[in-house]
Amino acid sequence: MTGNCMIKAVRGTRDLLPPDTALWNFVEAAVRDVFRAYNFHEIRTPIFEETQLFARSVGEETDIVAKEMYTWEDPPRLLQEYIDSYREVTAALREGRQPSGKLVSLESLAGTQSLTLRPENTAGIVRAYIEHKMWNRGLNKFYSIGPMFRRERPQKGRYRQFYQIDAEVIGPPSAGSESPARDAEILELLATLLDRLGIKDWTLQLNSVGCPNDRVVYNEALRKALEPVAPKMCSDCQRRAVTNPLRVFDCKVPEDQPIIEKLPRISHYLDESCRKHFEQVQEILKAAGVPFTLNDRLVRGLDYYTRTAFEFTHGALGAQNAILGGGRYDGLSESLGGPSAPGIGFAIGEDRLVLALKESAEAVQHKPEVYIAPLGPGMDREAARLARELRHHDLVVELGDETFRLKKSFEAATRAGARFILIVGENEVKTDTFALKHLASGEQVSVPRAELALRIQSTL
Ligand code: HAM
Repeated sequence: MTGNCMIKAVRGTRDLLPPDTALWNFVEAAVRDVFRAYNFHEIRTPIFEETQLFARSVGEETDIVAKEMYTWEDPPRLLQEYIDSYREVTAALREGRQPSGKLVSLESLAGTQSLTLRPENTAGIVRAYIEHKMWNRGLNKFYSIGPMFRRERPQKGRYRQFYQIDAEVIGPPSAGSESPARDAEILELLATLLDRLGIKDWTLQLNSVGCPNDRVVYNEALRKALEPVAPKMCSDCQRRAVTNPLRVFDCKVPEDQPIIEKLPRISHYLDESCRKHFEQVQEILKAAGVPFTLNDRLVRGLDYYTRTAFEFTHGALGAQNAILGGGRYDGLSESLGGPSAPGIGFAIGEDRLVLALKESAEAVQHKPEVYIAPLGPGMDREAARLARELRHHDLVVELGDETFRLKKSFEAATRAGARFILIVGENEVKTDTFALKHLASGEQVSVPRAELALRIQSTL
């Protein structure tokens, strides 16, 4: 061993390797197909944003913002340089010597910015909606696929870099963005998508978390109910009981659960319009044949939600059983300085979706249809020509090497899972007729060059 230790992927991140990547691509292709059918269009926003964007949307008191974000000052070293220079100057003053460098000016610090790797993408998409004045386009239906970052404790189905398939429907109220029909369409889309992917046994948990007016009354009721019991709860809950009582429901501490179980329920605090909206969502879902379970404890761990909130859970996932979550966020645009733009969306945890699929899916691998085995000096050239011709016919071709003996080529073809091996030796090139062997049956035929592609395709 040398003194250099091996560098591994950072805790909570992972490499996605073949053959698993084939499953990821299969999922993404199916998802894109479904989004097309529902007239959603792709949006790609940056992987990092200003920290304030998440603080103001997801909420300061949420676990995501309070504990899990990857945040840094940009430019990254300036703040440290300021602290170092400050330390050196004060130490020099104390010791009565000349400081070794100058104090970094406060003005230069004013140019720094706090940036954060996105922990979710709704905030970024709504920011983009406002920045590009997309209300001019009426109702916008966006989707995006990409990595998110949360510094959570890693476990099966929970990573620090994970992937979300996100969809958002957002627009001015005049475009129908507030309609319960939007909520129902999103939920029906999800049911279709999961069914199409072959994910069985999902449960749609549905709730309404009310509008800001309801929230004021409900928060007050929660505050009151928490007052006598909060001192017995964890320190996070004690703080939340005062600052943002709704977030008490995010608590995972087992001892707090019996207390949380007895807290007032949001379903009793919905005003007339929210109750009506929620009823209409349910009616459309029933008409469309999408099964759901009402769960008035589901408040979701992000502050921007209003009215409809939901999660799809899946039995095979264990503790991290939420395969996706979402809801309405009718006031989010305003809180980010935009115009009224009600919206609803969801994010699927793609890592979890792939995990759930792995339990049931048959392989979606693609394997080479033909392995070309060049035999002897000068045959790499001929093999390259043949490979090019066959690939033009859309065949998946793997190429050997002229230095391989025939036995080694057979082994490589078998390992690659090829259906045929095509032998390219001097005789074959001279006669322009090649030995094509079906690996599973051992059957071998001689095929003229012009017929090769057809022959391979017709026996697939
Ligand atoms: P979320 O519930 O925080 O919602 O995340 C959505 C999904 O992302 C979760 O249900 C889960 O499948 C997956 N997920 C979250 N954290 C992790 C992790 N550490 N490792 C693996 N998967 C994870 C949102 O992010 C909202 N932006 C959803 C939304 C869109 N609401 C409206 N529009």
